[in-house]
Amino acid sequence: MECSNWSIRFMLLAVCLLPALVECRTRHYKFNVVMKNTTRLCSSKRIVTVNGRSPGPTLYAREDDTVLVKVVNHVKYNVSIHWHGIRQLRTGWADGPAYITQCPIQPGQSFVYNFTITGQRGTLLWHAHILWLRATVHGAIVVLPRRGIPYPFPAPHKEVVVVLAEWWKSDTEAVINEALKSGLAPNVSDAHTINGHPGSVSTCSSQGIQIYFEVLALNVCFL
Ligand SMILES: *[C@@H]1O[C@H](CO)[C@@H](O)[C@H](O)[C@H]1NC(C)=O
Ligand SMILES: *[C@@H]1O[C@H](CO)[C@@H](O)[C@H](O)[C@H]1NC(C)=O
Ligand SMILES: *[C@@H]1O[C@H](CO)[C@@H](O)[C@H](O)[C@H]1NC(C)=O
Ligand SMILES: *[C@@H]1O[C@H](CO)[C@@H](O)[C@H](O)[C@H]1NC(C)=O
Repeated sequence: MECSNWSIRFMLLAVCLLPALVECRTRHYKFNVVMKNTTRLCSSKRIVTVNGRSPGPTLYAREDDTVLVKVVNHVKYNVSIHWHGIRQLRTGWADGPAYITQCPIQPGQSFVYNFTITGQRGTLLWHAHILWLRATVHGAIVVLPRRGIPYPFPAPHKEVVVVLAEWWKSDTEAVINEALKSGLAPNVSDAHTINGHPGSVSTCSSQGIQIYFEVLALNVCFL
């Protein structure tokens, strides 16, 4: 029963996503920057996230698509987002480094990143580009080839996005501020993560024995 429920849900998901992937030349995303109480390693803290998730949403586009990302800042920090690896041809102001290509987005404000992906394919990364917010404000960018153009390798059976990162039990802004004051290296993280989750940890019994491996996104285009 459980199994068939899941496959029905997945089919619905695929049906919902397909029109967007077939039609779109302009990809619209809304990134709400919000705080989220999150528990890892048996310890909770409030983190800065996009849409309440860390990693945040995977951004999908095809080569030559225009991407419009509306970022709304609901947190107390100034925010900006960098599309790491995207060549900003004639759209330097959409690149994201705070105080370099734009004033940061202030609390309560929003900004629309508008850029076209030209001459590149592959999986890249977006992340906050101010303070140490990238510790939790990050996610993947998947740039597919133009429709009808195959990958330069056999089509994979399935695609899974894997984001490797780190988790600090402390507030990451406190960690970097402490290091900037003392001039010493910042405290090392408490765990490495796969898609936001550390593995099983002996000092944290409630974490269980399961290795978390969350499938963020399947590339339904190629199913
Ligand atoms: C965050 O969640 C934990 C575990 O559910 C809870 O104990 C804690 O009070 C929450 N903290 C905040 C600030 O909501
Ligand atoms: C936030 O950014 C604005 C410019 O957009 C700047 O004037 C202000 O000082 C920044 N605030 C902080 C706390 O850095
Ligand atoms: C995005 O940029 C293109 C090209 O400069 C422009 O024509 C379009 O109006 C922009 N869209 C938005 C929503 O700002
Ligand atoms: C950094 O590590 C030191 C030594 O363990 C600890 O005393 C300090 O509280 C840590 N700083 C933060 C911001 O967690």
